[in-house]
Amino acid sequence: MAKRVALLTSGGDAPGMNAAIRSVVRVGVAKGLQIFGVGKGFEGLIGSDFHHMNSRSVSNIIQRGGTILRTARCDEFRTEGGLRKAADVLTAYNVDGLIAIGGDGTFRGLVELQRFWDGQIIGLPGTIDNDLWGTDFTIGFDTAVNTALESIDKIRDTAESHERLFIIEVMGRLAGFIALEVAVACGAEEVMVPEQVADLEAIGKRLKLGRMRGKNSGMVIVAEGGKAGTAYEVAEALRKSADCDFRVAVLGHIQRGGTPTARDRVLAAKLGAFAVRAMIEGATGVMAGELGGEFTLTPLEQTWKNKKSLDEFLLEIMPALSQ
Ligand code: F6P
Repeated sequence: MAKRVALLTSGGDAPGMNAAIRSVVRVGVAKGLQIFGVGKGFEGLIGSDFHHMNSRSVSNIIQRGGTILRTARCDEFRTEGGLRKAADVLTAYNVDGLIAIGGDGTFRGLVELQRFWDGQIIGLPGTIDNDLWGTDFTIGFDTAVNTALESIDKIRDTAESHERLFIIEVMGRLAGFIALEVAVACGAEEVMVPEQVADLEAIGKRLKLGRMRGKNSGMVIVAEGGKAGTAYEVAEALRKSADCDFRVAVLGHIQRGGTPTARDRVLAAKLGAFAVRAMIEGATGVMAGELGGEFTLTPLEQTWKNKKSLDEFLLEIMPALSQ
């Protein structure tokens, strides 16, 4: 009998989720699976929002940002009642396995669901934050970095014309992956990430020194979630030590949208297909990822309990690069 597999996207959307959906559906169908798309993540699971999917259901979506299955942050799924309802729905639909594309919130939900449902569960890393242990990159990260970079390159034009310093806030929740890559790629003067304590006094002095040495404009990249606060708070704190004024730009949700890069589409295609293979082979309670070019299955709890480190080398060379 063909396996019946439910597929959903949950939490914050990420560019490349559609490419992952397409891969799971097409590879799954080719291998004889029956795939049910679940609308709006865990909310749709609780509400029986199931749709049979075939290869045509995923035509012309590989280049689209967002998720055709829709997504949600679902409070009811955090309750025992919600989890039981979801488990009952999966049982009623005779589902053998569930593939969920999302970040650590999604994976925490999956681990809870395992207490009430004994079908197979596989997670696919879909988040712009890149904050999951067990995969070098998450689906959506590369696009988010490139989207932020495109905006920052534009801000640099006006910063240079007006000889201004900008504080730019990027997303990433409690991790600095987006901020660090963006900072190196845009040639920022400073980067502030949640993983490090920011010495605002020293940063301000370096910016002042830079101006004295002829740097009339510049960029400070601030990751949201840092202890120094929002970009506005950082600007306020730096005003004195840097002895100048700042303009602030918070890039926000623009980083979550748009056409996925080739890198995200290819990663999504690979991991989607690998998740299907793992499902057929009986894996459960794991995230399908890629480490150093090798496919990996990591127990879901480990993906958030272990902390993935920022690239130490990039952190080390930032000061020299920004001289
Ligand atoms: O996890 C993805 C993310 O975009 C984070 O970078 C950000 O902190 C959060 O989601 C924003 O969530 P929401 O869209 O619910 O405001």
